[in-house]
Amino acid sequence: MPLVSTRQLLDEAAKGGYGVGAFNVNDMEQIQAIMEAAKETNSPVIIQASRGARAFAQDNYLYHLMLAAAELYPQIPLAMHLDHGNSFETCESAIKLGFTSVMMDGSLKADGKTPATFAENVEVTRKVVDYAHERGIAVEGEIGVLGGIEDGHGAGGSGLEHVTDPDQAVEFAELTGVDSLAIAIGTSHGAYKFTKKPDGSVLKMDLLIAIHKRLPKTHLVMHGSSSVPKDLQDIINQYGGKLKETWGVPVEEIQLGIKNGVRKINVDTDNRLAITGAIRKVFVENPEKFDPRDYMKPARAAMQKVVATRMVQFGQAGHAGDYTAISIADMAKGYANGTLSTKPLVAAR
Ligand code: G3H
Ligand code: 13P
Ligand code: ZN
Repeated sequence: MPLVSTRQLLDEAAKGGYGVGAFNVNDMEQIQAIMEAAKETNSPVIIQASRGARAFAQDNYLYHLMLAAAELYPQIPLAMHLDHGNSFETCESAIKLGFTSVMMDGSLKADGKTPATFAENVEVTRKVVDYAHERGIAVEGEIGVLGGIEDGHGAGGSGLEHVTDPDQAVEFAELTGVDSLAIAIGTSHGAYKFTKKPDGSVLKMDLLIAIHKRLPKTHLVMHGSSSVPKDLQDIINQYGGKLKETWGVPVEEIQLGIKNGVRKINVDTDNRLAITGAIRKVFVENPEKFDPRDYMKPARAAMQKVVATRMVQFGQAGHAGDYTAISIADMAKGYANGTLSTKPLVAAR
C-alpha cells in the first residue's frame, strides 16, 4: 500500500470507535520496530517525525525508510506525519518531501517555546490547511498548550497551565478547517509528567468530554500520552541509569479519551525508555560486546513490545485490513469537491 493520509486512518478509526497510536521515530530500527508491531497485531499505523528527528536523520533518509516500510508491509495502512511543525515553512518542506500529514503547532510561536495568541495560531494554521489540502495532505492543529519540554520544544510547566477552552476549540476548528485537533488536558511531553502515583483521574477529562460534545465529529489528538511504565524505569535504573521517580498517563485514561473522540495518541517517551533500558542491560551484562547489533536487536525488540501493547490497548489492532488506500491525489479531489469535510459539526452547548 502507498503511504496514506492520516485523515483516512482517523476517519476509519472514528467509524470503528478506536484510537490510533502515533509513534515517533528517528532511525531505521524504530521504524522496523513499529512495522513489526503493526504486522504482529494487524494494525494501521501512524509514524511521525519531529523537527529534531528530521535534523538528526536527514529528510531523505527518513522518507526512503518510510517508503521501504510501505513496500515491505503492503497490508498495513501507514501514514507519515510531521510532529509539531513550528511554522508554515516547516510544514511546506515536509509536504514537498512526501509526508502525508503535518501538524502545525501554532499554539506556540515559531521559537517552539512562547505561547502564541489565538489569532496568530488561527492565521498560521489556516495558511497551512489551505496549502496542504490543495495537495491532499491532512493537517493537525493544536489549541491550548501542552506542558513539558522536549529537545528545546515546548512551553515547559506542568501541563495544567494552558488547558484548552472548549469555546476556543470550536472557534479554532471552524476558522481553520483542520482535520484533527490536539488539545491540552493536563498532559505534558517527556518522562516527568506527574510527581505522584495517580489516584483516580490525572487528566482534565471533563474538558475533553466538553470539547467532544461541542465537536462530536472532530478527531481529537492526545499528545504526551506515554504511560512511563514502572518496569521500564526500573530496567534503566537497575543497569546504572538515574531516572527520578515519575508517573505517566494511565492507559485507562487514554481509553476513556478514545470513548470520547480521541483518535490519535502520541507516544514517544515509552519507546525511548524501552530502547535505553535494553541497551543498558546489554552493556552491563556483556561489557565485552561491541557489535551494535548485539544491543540494537534487543532495543528494537523492546520497542516492538511496547508498541504492540499500545496498539492492542488503543483498539487499532485487527483493523489493518478494513479498508484500501485512498491516493493522496484523490484526497486532494475530496477536499476540493467537499466529500472530505473541513467544516466541523458543532453541537449546541
Ligand atoms: O513532541 C515531542 C516528541 O517526543 C518528539 O521529541 O522533539 O525530542 O524529537 P523531539
Ligand atoms: P510523550 O513524551 O508522552 O511520549 O509524548 C510524545 C508526543 O506527544 C509527541 O508529539
Ligand atoms: Zn507532542
